[in-house]
Amino acid sequence: MCGIVGCILKNNENVAPILFKCISNLEYRGYDSIGLATYDNKINVKKAKGKIKEVNDELNFENMAGKYGIAHTRWASAGRPTDENAHPHLDDTGRIAVVHNGTLENYTELKNKLIEEGRSFESSTDTEVIPHLIRKYVDEGLDLEHALRKTIEDLKGSYAIVAISQDEVGKIVATRKDSPLSLGFGKNGYYVASDSPAILEYARDVIRPKEGEIAILTEDGIVIHDEDDNGVKRKPTKITWTADMARKEGYEYFMLKEINEQPLAVKNTLGQKNNVKKIIEEIGEVKRICFVACGTSYHASITGKYLIESLAGIPCDVVIASEFKYTAKTWNEETLMVFISQSGETADSLTALRYAKETSHTLAIVNVAGSAMWEEADYVIQTQAGPEIGVAATKTYLAQLTAIYLLAGTISKNDEIIDQLNEVPKYIEEAVAKSDEIKALSKRYNFVHNAFYLGRGFSYPIALEGALKLKEITYVHAEGYAAGELKHGPLALINEDMPVIVVIPPGDDYNKTLVNLEEVKARGASVLAVGSEGNEDLKSKSKEMISINPKVPDILAPLVYTVPLQLLAYYVTVDKGFNPDQPKNLAKVITV
Ligand code: M6R
Repeated sequence: MCGIVGCILKNNENVAPILFKCISNLEYRGYDSIGLATYDNKINVKKAKGKIKEVNDELNFENMAGKYGIAHTRWASAGRPTDENAHPHLDDTGRIAVVHNGTLENYTELKNKLIEEGRSFESSTDTEVIPHLIRKYVDEGLDLEHALRKTIEDLKGSYAIVAISQDEVGKIVATRKDSPLSLGFGKNGYYVASDSPAILEYARDVIRPKEGEIAILTEDGIVIHDEDDNGVKRKPTKITWTADMARKEGYEYFMLKEINEQPLAVKNTLGQKNNVKKIIEEIGEVKRICFVACGTSYHASITGKYLIESLAGIPCDVVIASEFKYTAKTWNEETLMVFISQSGETADSLTALRYAKETSHTLAIVNVAGSAMWEEADYVIQTQAGPEIGVAATKTYLAQLTAIYLLAGTISKNDEIIDQLNEVPKYIEEAVAKSDEIKALSKRYNFVHNAFYLGRGFSYPIALEGALKLKEITYVHAEGYAAGELKHGPLALINEDMPVIVVIPPGDDYNKTLVNLEEVKARGASVLAVGSEGNEDLKSKSKEMISINPKVPDILAPLVYTVPLQLLAYYVTVDKGFNPDQPKNLAKVITV
């Protein structure tokens, strides 16, 4: 969840401005504190609690001297966000500096032992045991690389570690387990980063080291050693994303830019049609499907279940990845296990994928090439949303849905739905064009403390996603419910202070949802309906209404009706003065 960058330049320029730029690109991975360490005759460290810009105004990272160094942006796990807990962490001689992403399960035990051995700690992080252990093994006579190797033998948990030592000048060492790390080959030098988008401006040829391998970066190149100390040769992957794609380009926030990019994300993902066909041909007969995912990707999975069951008649399960372990292992070689993740790194989903691989075909729908799930699944559909920087998933969600529609259409041999998908980017554009209208409407939602989102059938996951968007960036408590379920309990909460957003496209379920709308209205709720343009009856029954092109087929509603809910959450957030790109307590990539 934290962001990591390391760089060693081939020339003698100072690396700090580059490190700072790269780590700023990773602010979406964590924004509790930031720190840099560079080597200039000795290791120099600057670090503090706070957002990158604020801390830089205070500490001026860019004027640090030295041609190589490491940087970190933190999402606090062990230890509160404080100056002391900010990375890099040092051993107690100050000669070894370490940045780390991940969580160490046995750090208390290791820390107690190191304290007994006379080492002193400055932070309450799990990370600090790492420089102390490296120091211990260096003191026993090992070089930095082997001291790091010995250190990771002691660690239980997940980690990406990058370290430098004052006693081995001109070298950065790095390793990983269950946490992402990419090595980058640039024109001006060599890079290591938790996410390749961080270094796109400088390096687009990347290698992801495998678990247990140690990478050694010097000004002459990158060498990788496996667990037996043998040299490893691996061809770099070219990242097709460009640095420009990860810039705001005049938008106030990435989230708004990314909402606007949705027509393109869907259009580009439709280009995966032949790949999907090829995958299904290779797999052969699919008797059962199980989707596994978290958060927004889980909502995409629910749409997947409804689609596949209705179009292909194949039984389909949906499991929250963190609950996967607790489900009975009823899948087998005839089950297609589909893992959905924008990042491709989510720890719970990755763990489930590894487990499922033992018995079944695994297919990952991921946005990031070279990510763990992209590498480890048997088959991959890469969504073509481009880099998504805002923590709230928007364009990656619609791209995931597009991939799911292609999958369902292909499995069920339903060409009609695949053809209909070509019209969707236009409908999304029309929905995005409602921006000003929704902005005006959002003012009425600034002071609410709770909200309900209701939907039925294909609109149920839309309601879930609308509620998630609102709660994660506005901090307003919101619940997404299957419209028919409300009367089984939550109806007790409905009163004049409870806005209810009802997703109600035309189609078979319209009348039933309308009954639910009337039920909440009768209890005083003010209703915002998201329905079909020209439906005057619906308009008269709702306090507010956002209208969507009536030509959008009911079955494709998730791809279009989601958009106004994203915009509503966005504008409420901005009105409240919060940053929608960096909601508190959250991060873009959940590797723990
Ligand atoms: O990278 P993933 O799609 O696997 O992430 C799963 C969730 O953490 C993610 O979808 C999260 O719910 C979104 N950021 C919410 O907007």
